[in-house]
Amino acid sequence: MSNAEQTYTQPLGLDVGTSRIVVARADDKKYRYDSQLNAFLTLPYSKLAESLLERENVFHQVQGSELLVAGNDAQRFAEVFHVETRRPMKNGVLNPDEPHSLAVVRSIVARLIGPAAVPKQRIFFSVPAPGESGEGGLAYHTASIRDMLNELGYEATPIEEGLSVVFGELGYSNFSGIGISCGSGLCNVCLAVLSVPVISYSIAKAGDYIDTQSALVTGDRATRLRVQKEQAFHLNGFSSDRVKNALNVYYRDVMTALADSLQSHIASSQKLPRIDQSVPLVLGGGTVMPQGFLDGFAEVMRNHELPLRLSEIRVSADPLNSTARGALMAALC
Ligand SMILES: Nc1ncnc2c1ncn2[C@@H]1O[C@H](COP(=O)(O)OP(=O)(O)O)[C@@H](O)[C@H]1O
Ligand SMILES: [Mg+2]
Repeated sequence: MSNAEQTYTQPLGLDVGTSRIVVARADDKKYRYDSQLNAFLTLPYSKLAESLLERENVFHQVQGSELLVAGNDAQRFAEVFHVETRRPMKNGVLNPDEPHSLAVVRSIVARLIGPAAVPKQRIFFSVPAPGESGEGGLAYHTASIRDMLNELGYEATPIEEGLSVVFGELGYSNFSGIGISCGSGLCNVCLAVLSVPVISYSIAKAGDYIDTQSALVTGDRATRLRVQKEQAFHLNGFSSDRVKNALNVYYRDVMTALADSLQSHIASSQKLPRIDQSVPLVLGGGTVMPQGFLDGFAEVMRNHELPLRLSEIRVSADPLNSTARGALMAALC
């Protein structure tokens, strides 16, 4: 039996993201990741469509009069059937306008991790921090995911996404510093001192905002902008290409909003402990992937005074997995 096929009984880290769900496992000091798109599509039920999906070995289920295809297969079959994929989550939490939301997330999660291999196997799962608009369904989201994991036999603990990044990236600074995850719906931020979160919040400007705003000004579809953004887009000031220029403008908008939020949250915090040493700031999540992001963000930060000193600003070496890895490291503690 290969390593991958052996039963895994160690703790797990789970990143329940708006666009992707990622699981991290620890094997002989190495981390392994699996992910699925957090997306689905539905088709009217027919015997023919069902047998086609079965023949193609596609992950699907029957829901009343519909066939539901979830995860990476949804993307593949959206093209085949000329339909749009839908998302069970929005802005970091279960989407209240989507009746299938919980069933879809449950089936993707069950597919990624299966039932617990041993009773009370530990799992830490990421949740967003509160945003400007308040609670926004966060308690419902957290309880739903926890119940779902408990039903699978796990002992599940939520961890805020920014704190996950601190756990995953800032071991070398005794888990003190600022962890930021920029995903599709949100940027999640956490300032931690010795692994204890001191300031934690989210802002609702991230990858989706860049896609939809750029689409508005170029007259394109947001999904097309997203593809262009993810392929060979560099952040570098002005470009003569309309699409690249729009993406640049809205990237800068997100970076400025993030820097402004850091300044206002940290400056206004009543509970900021005295931090004598300078601390690192690390960025993860898919939105920090384009070349030039780090330079652009560092430049924006130069115009922002913080009441603490930063030793460095850096981007995670593996931004797409930094939340899952951090949740795993917290579960292993
Ligand atoms: N190579 C890339 N370049 C630019 N943006 C990317 C890249 N890969 C992913 N993204 C963007 O990152 C976001 C998803 O990030 P991720 O951390 O997976 O999100 P979430 O936590 O929301 O599931 C999306 O907006 C996606 O378009
Ligand atoms: Mg994420």
